[in-house]
Amino acid sequence: MSTYYIGLSVTYHDSALAIVSEEGEVLFAEATERFLQNKRALNCEPDQLFRIPELLEQHCPNPKKIVIASNWRKKRPIYENIVKKLGFLSAPGLLKTGIKKLHSPLPNYQLHHMMACQSSSIERAGLNLVRIIQVVYPDCAIAFKDYDHHLTHAAMACYASPFEEAACAVIDSYGENGSIAFYRYRNRKLEQIHEAKGLSKASLGLYYMKITELCGFDWLKGEEWKVMGLASYGKLNQKLYDLLSSIIAVNGFDCTHLSEKLFEQLAKLDEFMQRPDSTLEELADVAYTGQAFFADLVTQLLSHLRKVNQCENLALAGGCALNSSFNGQITQRTEFKQVFIPSAPADDGCALGAAWLAYHEDLPKQIKPPQLQTPYTGSTIKDDAVERLIRFNKSLNIQRLPDSIIAETARLLAEGKLVGWVQGRAEYGPRALGNRSILADPRDAKMQDLINEKVKFREMFRPFAPSILHEHGDGYFENYHESPYMDKTLKIRKTMQNKIAATCHVDGTGRLQTVKREWNPRFYELIQAFYQLTQVPVLLNTSFNIMGKPLVHSLEDALTVFMTTGLDVLVVNDYLITKPRNEVE
Ligand SMILES: [Fe+2]
Repeated sequence: MSTYYIGLSVTYHDSALAIVSEEGEVLFAEATERFLQNKRALNCEPDQLFRIPELLEQHCPNPKKIVIASNWRKKRPIYENIVKKLGFLSAPGLLKTGIKKLHSPLPNYQLHHMMACQSSSIERAGLNLVRIIQVVYPDCAIAFKDYDHHLTHAAMACYASPFEEAACAVIDSYGENGSIAFYRYRNRKLEQIHEAKGLSKASLGLYYMKITELCGFDWLKGEEWKVMGLASYGKLNQKLYDLLSSIIAVNGFDCTHLSEKLFEQLAKLDEFMQRPDSTLEELADVAYTGQAFFADLVTQLLSHLRKVNQCENLALAGGCALNSSFNGQITQRTEFKQVFIPSAPADDGCALGAAWLAYHEDLPKQIKPPQLQTPYTGSTIKDDAVERLIRFNKSLNIQRLPDSIIAETARLLAEGKLVGWVQGRAEYGPRALGNRSILADPRDAKMQDLINEKVKFREMFRPFAPSILHEHGDGYFENYHESPYMDKTLKIRKTMQNKIAATCHVDGTGRLQTVKREWNPRFYELIQAFYQLTQVPVLLNTSFNIMGKPLVHSLEDALTVFMTTGLDVLVVNDYLITKPRNEVE
């Protein structure tokens, strides 16, 4: 009989569920979007009634007690109140007048719907789980815990890190009290140093959403990525930078609104909003300037944290920690020597943060040595599913190659084939890290166009990432440091840019994934085999999905992408699958 800690992320976006054992092991962690195949799973409960029995059976056998922990304090004000009094958009009466203007892609009815869903989601957190537990395990004790939103972000960043000690920054859109919080992490304990509170505090998460909107992208779909990709094509627009500087500034640990007349100031930003006749160059300048201003503000915040905390290790979380362009510059812009960003720094990661907090609260003496948390904690696609496909399939060519699947896949990649690669447990967090990936040869720049044309159908300005064997990292990247979750963008050495041209962005950078054998042996061996064939220890790695959809979850999802795009090969575990009219010789 065992105790289990189930963490739930219950904010209206990026809901997720995580399970931690009484030994502190992560048994399962996955965003709800994967199972539902609904990007960001807006307004969807993490404890989906029709999924819970299977998860309990698989990961929580013989439960004596189940502790359900959520990432939002139930008794604290929720979205309605928060929007009124917090952040970049804060101002009295904002809800009635401002939001519509500031978030023009979002009609008011949608906003109210979102608010209602968040309120309801927080109120209902864990109720589905309780219903099922009571039916399936009537003797199992159930306990509830809820934690400050930003504390759950901090727990995810610190407990997943290899650090004994760290300074922790959570930079987010909003929480119960504010949008930014700082912590000291030592002896597996988190102590809050500061949290931004009050009407005058700005939210950098909401700031970046505004920049996303100015560029013509949709933050509700999580299109902040596009701003980062586009920024590399732009240059500084001094007028916009000066305007932004007149609206927000950093003062110590706080990010503050400067103007009493915030609405008037914000309205001036609309001059830079995408118009029907906007050129890509103009929008790239807005993206560049928005990103540059963001980087300057966060640098000031982190420098202050470093000064106050006197620790060389930084653990960073919150939605803004997904800004890989900035993340890659932190050790150069500040005096932090090591920077850790978890695989799921945004709200999906809070599920594991909440589960870990409950575990540590219950068992404070059970201290495990710090260790980098694997991101491979999600669902698997079993061989049975492929065997069923073989039984009923009449058109695909399917071979099981247990001894040669790695060598064969490496050969096909070196020949320029586009490969859908599904192995083991799915990644926790937004990035494909070699278990739900589309892989390709990085050597020819034309591969970018080919993938966009045949598979991803996305904008040309978005780069593709290089996955590199750790031991070659320094040879390919300037100021190389590990990026296990594709969390940092670094400059590719000039001499190497042509060698991996398809993963080199226009500004000579790459959002790399460091691959070590101990983190992912199968992916390591595949890159190693490709290296032996080509002398290049890098693969182009992009997420196994099509634009607007989450990473594939089931074999059926993988087959749908495979059959409706120009992917040449699908590899699932030891099975190599090719199309009838495009068979691989
Ligand atoms: Fe958050």
